[in-house]
Amino acid sequence: MTTLDWRKDRIRVKTLLEADREQGEVFVQGWLRTVRRSKDVVFLALSDGSCHAILQVVVPEDSAAFDSVKQLGTGACVGIRGEMVASPGTGQRWEVQAREVTIYGLTDEEYPLQKKRHTFEFLRSITHLRPRTNAFGAVFRVRSRMSHAIHIFFQDRGFVYVHTPIITTNDCEGAGEMFRVSTLDPENPPRVDGRISWHDDFFGSKAGLTVSGQLQGELFATALTDIYTFGPTFRAENSNTSRHASEFWMIEPEMAFADLAADCQLAEDFLRFLVGYALEHCGEDLGFFNQFVSPGLLDRLESVVATDFERMTYTEAVEKLQKSNKSFDFPVEWGCDLQSEHERYLTENVIGGPLFVTDYPEGIKAFYMRNNDDGKTVAAMDLLVPKVGELIGGSQREERLDVLQHKMKAFDLDPKSLDWYLDTRRWGNCPHAGFGLGFERFLMYLTGMENVRDVIPFPRTPGNAMF
Ligand code: 4AD
Ligand code: MG
Repeated sequence: MTTLDWRKDRIRVKTLLEADREQGEVFVQGWLRTVRRSKDVVFLALSDGSCHAILQVVVPEDSAAFDSVKQLGTGACVGIRGEMVASPGTGQRWEVQAREVTIYGLTDEEYPLQKKRHTFEFLRSITHLRPRTNAFGAVFRVRSRMSHAIHIFFQDRGFVYVHTPIITTNDCEGAGEMFRVSTLDPENPPRVDGRISWHDDFFGSKAGLTVSGQLQGELFATALTDIYTFGPTFRAENSNTSRHASEFWMIEPEMAFADLAADCQLAEDFLRFLVGYALEHCGEDLGFFNQFVSPGLLDRLESVVATDFERMTYTEAVEKLQKSNKSFDFPVEWGCDLQSEHERYLTENVIGGPLFVTDYPEGIKAFYMRNNDDGKTVAAMDLLVPKVGELIGGSQREERLDVLQHKMKAFDLDPKSLDWYLDTRRWGNCPHAGFGLGFERFLMYLTGMENVRDVIPFPRTPGNAMF
């Protein structure tokens, strides 16, 4: 029998456990979470990652397989053929009485996942093995489901999925946090007048990894009306926090004929849809997070689905923070950027749920945001949520060519370098708006996991890009 045949008649653990009647003889494949021996029987707990629950496999002494399972330990990989029967034990409806056990891969006492519980810090040091734990199996199943849900939300609403480039020569957010992409010899780059000649580089100018697909997204929104991107994003900011990754995934919708209010509405509908979808389709995994990672999680998520999000202007937010009598590390005054301690105070203590803060001072936001009539603020919004802080950042875009050119100068940007972007404002211009949702921040919010490194398969952070 070939391996392919084995796959063909294999039943997934999830399918087996959800069955409403006995399936007779079954064949399952997976990894052992535990091996428990008693005098005349061995109990195996088998997982194939298809669900959180494990399958109990019973190997009685009189089974032909009894001798071979004696050498099995936690982490071993096996195939099991046997009879699916109602389990007499508590805790599971079905179990399998093993008749035949195929051993694919053994483990030994050095296998680092012997213990039942490990800290997330420890598991980060064995990133390559952590998908085999309960917690990370749950995280990555939820991550996969939510990726799918994102497409459902936008496709059902007629948004067109646009693949914006990963390599680009434009630094959308203007913060100079791009990773360089270059084929020049770092030891001996070509120079003109002593300065590196990027003109001689692969792309003929200074290129890097994208920090946002927004500007290219805007080009498509001014043709296809409603678009979204969903892809990897890179930021070379040296902030070693639990919420910043150097490589993360971002979802960026962009809508023509939309203002800031429509933008907030889309963000609210989107977040509510995703949370509702997770409650409906990831119940078992969310139940695990609720029990072991973040007590009260399910109640918090239910209330997100049920309640409208609050809105507050930046000016109101500053007043609330100043009146709070709380001593912050960073003092608050109008014009300052809100720090994570301020954001969390607003969403956790003042509101107790998701909060849109809108209309920020022009000087602390990106050049492309639309100037408000007050001459001081821009039509920007951040969505803040408890425990995470900023989850979404977005704005109505400055569509007036002369104002935008003026703003670019004020931000020290050369309008010539973004001439292609300004073309949207020259021809067939329209009001438009969009936002970016950090996928990992969303997963932290959804699962209660407290570190961005624990919701992305292979985290990239300053000093770390292993695997
Ligand atoms: O607020 P940001 O920088 O906004 C933009 O990039 C806009 N171009 C979006 C748009 O309007 N189309 O980033 C958006 C979101 C943040 O709110 C945050 O959730 C996430 O991206 N984010 C990060 N997530 C993980 N690690 C980082 N270093 C992140 N930087 C931003
Ligand atoms: Mg932001």
